[in-house]
Amino acid sequence: MANAYDRIIGYDTIKAELMQISDMVKNPDIYRKIGAKLPKGILLYGRPGLGKSLMAKCFIEDCGLKTYTLRRNKSSEDFVDEITKAFRDAGKCAPAIIFLDDMDKFANEDEDHRDAEEYVAIQAGIDEVKDKEVLVFATANDIRKMPPSLKRAGRFDRKIEVDVPSEEDAHKIIAHYLSEKSLSEDVNTEDLANMISYNSCAELETIINEAAIYAAYDRKDKVEMEHAIKAVLTMKYRVPEDYNKTPGEEERKTAAHEAGHLVVAEALKPGSVGLVSIRVTGSEHREGFIHVCKEIDGEDDIMVSLAGKAATEMFYPEECTKGCSEDLDRASDAIRDYISIDAGAGIALLDVSVSKFSKMSENYVARNEAVVHAELERYMRQTRSILYKNREFLEKTVEELMSKGTLLYSDIRRIRESCG
Ligand SMILES: Nc1ncnc2c1ncn2[C@@H]1O[C@H](COP(=O)(O)OP(=O)(O)OP(=O)(O)O)[C@@H](O)[C@H]1O
Ligand SMILES: [Mg+2]
Repeated sequence: MANAYDRIIGYDTIKAELMQISDMVKNPDIYRKIGAKLPKGILLYGRPGLGKSLMAKCFIEDCGLKTYTLRRNKSSEDFVDEITKAFRDAGKCAPAIIFLDDMDKFANEDEDHRDAEEYVAIQAGIDEVKDKEVLVFATANDIRKMPPSLKRAGRFDRKIEVDVPSEEDAHKIIAHYLSEKSLSEDVNTEDLANMISYNSCAELETIINEAAIYAAYDRKDKVEMEHAIKAVLTMKYRVPEDYNKTPGEEERKTAAHEAGHLVVAEALKPGSVGLVSIRVTGSEHREGFIHVCKEIDGEDDIMVSLAGKAATEMFYPEECTKGCSEDLDRASDAIRDYISIDAGAGIALLDVSVSKFSKMSENYVARNEAVVHAELERYMRQTRSILYKNREFLEKTVEELMSKGTLLYSDIRRIRESCG
């Protein structure tokens, strides 16, 4: 039998949680008999486009109760009246659901939200229907903006965070959107999924649709891998569509830099890079990038950050390396985060948050920065050693980047496996 939740792809844990609450709503006597009370409010929160509204709609459909939906679409005064009226009506028609979609947008963006009339009205409404069977279901992007008194247990008992889809779920979502398109056989879904991991469902849907638009504009019957790559590069990395430059010496430097990041990432965690390109991106004309499709953590991430500079220095020892300051900042910040009180050694080292904001003596801060510098040097030596050990992988990657401009997950695996 079709289930209202079938429209949600993946997110099994959240679906299970919502299904359990639906069960309470549909079978209140079973829960009442044992003394279990229905949660008063459910708050789904997370980045835009992750499917919160979809999940809420599926929940509401499954419960089958009368629902009052509130979305801010009018002036503040009228909207406050609408909120008050919805709670009053829901109380009269209980059991019922009040659905507050995008609740963090209920108050004006530029005001201090905490005392906003809209939130006061919701809080009063929730308290008014406290003893009635009225369930409040809200979605929001940023719950930090909302008053703590509104978010507290008893008003919203269940706060469920919706995150970007897991790797497995992203594959399922991509397969679903691809199934709606006419696809050429050369479309490699694994490559595509690894290019666009860590994106929201809405972004995945839009990128795949954009690929289909490119294919139709080219008067092709089917979407080809080339269209998917173009859609990812232009939509995600803002690579200019008409970019068509023949790679020269500058591009070779970019290739060395990006290949450095890639080789160290792959050496420390094989299969972690989903895309690498030497194409110029965005309006700031940043040169090249890698997309990490499997999280690299801790010390390994510091070395991946330093690898661009280390590789550039290997190929161009005479030159002052450019484009590395962001990488160095990232690595330094990560090191500062690592450093805490080293009681054993008797040296008090500061956390970055402390060193940034306190009025420490200059000496103290300087000493900490010296430690950060020494750590950077140590990680840099390890990074260089990984690159020297993988020199063949590094050189082959540079050559392929020079000839193709962009390499995908399967290209990277092929190069890695071809090296001794
Ligand atoms: N898990 C999913 N399975 C299938 N489709 C999904 C899923 N998540 C999101 N979508 C689709 O992605 C699009 C955006 O989802 P939705 O509007 O629910 O996101 P949202 O989290 O409410 O975003 P916002 O915070 O901007 O309101 C919709 O077309 C929705 O159907
Ligand atoms: Mg929404």
